[in-house]
Amino acid sequence: MAHERNIVLLGFMGTGKSRVAGLLAGQLGWRQVDTDDEIERRAGLPIPEIFARHGEPWFRKLEHEVVRDLAAGQRLVIATGGGVVLNPENLRVLGASGVLVCLLADPEVIWERVRQETHRPLLAGGNPQQRIRDLLAKRRPLYTAIPLQVDTSHLTPESVAGRVLELWRMAERVEGRHG
Ligand code: S3P
Repeated sequence: MAHERNIVLLGFMGTGKSRVAGLLAGQLGWRQVDTDDEIERRAGLPIPEIFARHGEPWFRKLEHEVVRDLAAGQRLVIATGGGVVLNPENLRVLGASGVLVCLLADPEVIWERVRQETHRPLLAGGNPQQRIRDLLAKRRPLYTAIPLQVDTSHLTPESVAGRVLELWRMAERVEGRHG
């Protein structure tokens, strides 16, 4: 049988991608990688600095390079930045590398999870709660287009990881039957 496909976690900020990726990587004995971490490493700057100095289009370009490079690896749990879905080419490359699972959460839950944090430039400035609602509304069609989803609003990270693992195993079985 072909090698097992990577697990790719997509979804809006604060849906728990990094936390869940860490749990899954631990359970599978795989490596956890994170597009934001790799972007910061390559740019030599934290994400807010990248946005401030170079702007969002520069960030998106680097994000795409990182996505392409990470997607080439195996036995990976890949946590992606919330805006990865904006570029269809990102989804194509990641879909060829692994099973895509989108994590969802209600805007109020997202706000509770991110309100203490300062590393998200797209939520900086006035009224971040409204910003979350606006961005989510704009991106919802992109997130809901991903067939496998887990709503994390009322689940612990451990339960989410368990559910993602189930979905991944199911997807691998389907692939094994047809492939
Ligand atoms: C972004 C989400 C962030 C980070 C950047 C842009 C977005 O990642 O990539 O601030 O466009 O939604 P997280 O989803 O890990 O917060």
